[in-house]
Amino acid sequence: MLHIDYQNALSDKIGLRDGISKAVFKNFLHKSQPLVKKVFQSENKMGYAFLNLPDDESNLRKIKKFAKDQQKNKWENIVVLGIGGSALGGIALKEALLEPFHNLSKKPRLFFIDNIDPDYITGLLTKIRPEKSLFIVISKSGGTAEPMALYNLIRDKVKNPKKHFVFITDPKKGLLRKIGKKEDIEMFDIPPKIGGRFSVLSPVGLLPAALAGMDVGALLKGARRMREAIKTTKQGKNPALLLASLQYLLDRKKSKVMTVMMPYSNRLFRIGDWYRQLLSESIGKNNKTGPTPINAIGTTDQHSQLQLYNEGPNNKWFIFLRLLKYGNEVKLGSHLPKELAFLNNKKLNKVVDAALAGTSESLSKNKRPNIAIEIPKVDAENIGMLFMLFEFQVALLGLLYKVNAFNQPGVEESKIITKKLLSK
Ligand code: PA5
Repeated sequence: MLHIDYQNALSDKIGLRDGISKAVFKNFLHKSQPLVKKVFQSENKMGYAFLNLPDDESNLRKIKKFAKDQQKNKWENIVVLGIGGSALGGIALKEALLEPFHNLSKKPRLFFIDNIDPDYITGLLTKIRPEKSLFIVISKSGGTAEPMALYNLIRDKVKNPKKHFVFITDPKKGLLRKIGKKEDIEMFDIPPKIGGRFSVLSPVGLLPAALAGMDVGALLKGARRMREAIKTTKQGKNPALLLASLQYLLDRKKSKVMTVMMPYSNRLFRIGDWYRQLLSESIGKNNKTGPTPINAIGTTDQHSQLQLYNEGPNNKWFIFLRLLKYGNEVKLGSHLPKELAFLNNKKLNKVVDAALAGTSESLSKNKRPNIAIEIPKVDAENIGMLFMLFEFQVALLGLLYKVNAFNQPGVEESKIITKKLLSK
């Protein structure tokens, strides 16, 4: 199970101006506990239906069968065309669960095209063979300009669309569904009550993952385990309630208006990208409401952002993702002079741990609240847990901040203007 260490966000450690007092925290958790039940009671309402995704056995069977059937095609590439919530979860999964640099040596390679930059697309299309590729078009609305433009481009490059495309979209509505029917393309549903950024445990995240060989069953199992933990754990230890309360109190009572997520693992870095969208689009809803999420990665960004974090405006709080066990043990040599002998014969994970401890301690000394989510190791089950934890946290935040966490009128507005401009 994941563990949250939040001592460095409390006033005992960093003082009352910047940290939360134990008494206030206890009282707030107690007062907010009923919200957990409220989220569970809303499971069939628009948006909250993400809670049920890990139980969809028939969907899981369909995905696994499709992935198995596709093996006969010996695809060199699986290419996902989608944007925002239709891409970020899949990217997070790819980076976490496929070996780093997978695409350099393994097949099928997995690509996500979540932008329409002409140079970027040309770069890919000149390096892959469309006739050896399966393209997954993902769009909940079925009308977003970017994935539809990309479909339009790739459609030109394949002779047999039924073989080379699969669509993931709303079960009834939208133009992508219409095109799929016309072209007789295999389609998977995004449940109507699920929004893009909460869809990673639907076919949106699961299908590319299964095609690339990830253990999607374990992913869902992890999500179920976390859901159960949130349902049954009392306030002082409830992981989602703890995270939501820290976010809310540090923002509203201590003016920490920015949330920095900093995994100490390249494999977990893209979880930060996914979380950035989740928090931004769900909670950024009016002039006064919307903590700004920032992504960083340890140890790399200690050498780019830490100066600002330690000595710049004290308006941020920090969530470290701390990995307890890396997939590989890497031992260093013994070639360094005595001034650097502390790096001789060391295991790299010890060096990373020391760097994280150093960062956390320096932030605490400078009275910057910071917490660590401790993750036993990167595997499908733990990643499933993280997704459920953060989605539930954000659902709770919607209730705490009193905003609709499940719509995105600010995104829609831009989509409408873009369409108008292009239709002129
Ligand atoms: O979370 C959301 O709802 C958005 O970020 C969407 O995922 C994004 O705009 C893409 O929309 P669609 O999947 O309809 O193409």
